[in-house]
Amino acid sequence: MSAPKRLFIKTYGCQMNVYDSERMADVLSPLGYVAADTPDGADLVVLNTCHIREKATEKVYSELGKLKEMRDERLAEGGARMTIAVAGCVAQAEGEEIMRRQPAVDLVVGPQAYHQLPELIARSHRARGERLSADFAPEDKFDALAPAGRKANGVTAFLTVQEGCDKFCTFCVVPYTRGPEWSRDPATIEAEARDLAAQGVREVTLLGQNVNAYAGGLAALVRRLAAIPGLDRIRYTTSHPRDMDEDLIAAHAEVPELMPYLHLPVQSGSDKILKAMNRSHTADSYLKLIEKIRAARPDIAISGDFIVGFPGERDSDFEATLALVREVNHAAAFSFKYSRRPGTPASAMPGQVAEEVKDERLARLNALLDEQARAFNAAQVGRTLPVLFERPGRHPGQLIGRSPYLQAVHATAPDRLIGQIVPVKIENAARMSLGGTLGGGVLAEELQPA
Ligand code: 5AD
Ligand code: SF4
Repeated sequence: MSAPKRLFIKTYGCQMNVYDSERMADVLSPLGYVAADTPDGADLVVLNTCHIREKATEKVYSELGKLKEMRDERLAEGGARMTIAVAGCVAQAEGEEIMRRQPAVDLVVGPQAYHQLPELIARSHRARGERLSADFAPEDKFDALAPAGRKANGVTAFLTVQEGCDKFCTFCVVPYTRGPEWSRDPATIEAEARDLAAQGVREVTLLGQNVNAYAGGLAALVRRLAAIPGLDRIRYTTSHPRDMDEDLIAAHAEVPELMPYLHLPVQSGSDKILKAMNRSHTADSYLKLIEKIRAARPDIAISGDFIVGFPGERDSDFEATLALVREVNHAAAFSFKYSRRPGTPASAMPGQVAEEVKDERLARLNALLDEQARAFNAAQVGRTLPVLFERPGRHPGQLIGRSPYLQAVHATAPDRLIGQIVPVKIENAARMSLGGTLGGGVLAEELQPA
């Protein structure tokens, strides 16, 4: 995303196309494309076409033939590959026909989709195996991340199962920097999980930028890992609503090892903003999804991510976000002020929101989310929760662990309970943690000094 790249746009036809060509240059400039006057040496050539007469269309095909020659010559000389795109009305009218007739064309984009150019270009580069920041294949990368015989550090562990993202939310750099969605082989994951369990790990959190896009289904992987003796708790993060399939929802009802906590970012409650974000869900479809998940697992703790001040967000859009938050009732959440990331479509969108407005919205959203987190924690007071103790607490004689809902719980308990899942009667709650005492008949002997 750093070195300047040369962009040549050839415009045919009307004033509308002239205007559109400028817009295309705008959305491509954050990707590092700088306008060039000729196709010579260009990294990307866009033909912004006109369909008004057959002759105009034929001119496009003859130009494409010349570009192909130019590209082949340059490749033969060891130069960089030129990407060839067709935009405008011919693209709209003939679509894939263009790529059939002239296979040198890398991508076709209609006038309604110019904002998707960065995404289309990234996809086309990937299709040829060109990745931005990968100097080794994902497989090697995972091997480097998770060498065989990895040493467990404590009773909980993270386990990477998936990498990358194909969702192209318009605010996000991940699809450009991390590349396409890629899943680790389940047998390798299982072997690593067994090894961790043998070292005393009781809880694994399966990691991935889009973990629920895991190839072969995340639910199947969860069920497979749940069968490993000693592995009593499974979590996963982070998920996209689009990949929350029926099987995964069913797993929340059926697999006791799968913990009742779900990080399922919604980002906004305004359909207009969600569309501009390229999120592929609406506020309503998200709420319906949450309803289904809660039908499967009524006590599930829902967490999420929010962005305030996305370009074009008005007061009414922000109010829609607050309304959605009230409806969902979150156990926890993360909220961010929109930040312009070079190379992403949103960074070139009009209607960037003033910093003071973002600050004010963030404060209001956080106040509401805080209130919900406190209420969720307070609702545990009086309940007895199974807590996996992880490590000594801040005060002598105290241990810290986690509830099924990922709340930190501290209690007075002997060190030998580290790595055990024990019932704790919750007695007090704060925003970030719970406090309780060991309880339950089975543990009576643990209450005696060791
Ligand atoms: N500005 C603000 N927040 C962002 N996130 C991702 N990109 C941006 C950005 N450009 C947030 C999203 C995502 C979380 C990991 O980070 O909410 O879910
Ligand atoms: Fe992918 Fe998440 Fe970024 Fe969207 S926000 S592009 S789903 S990593």
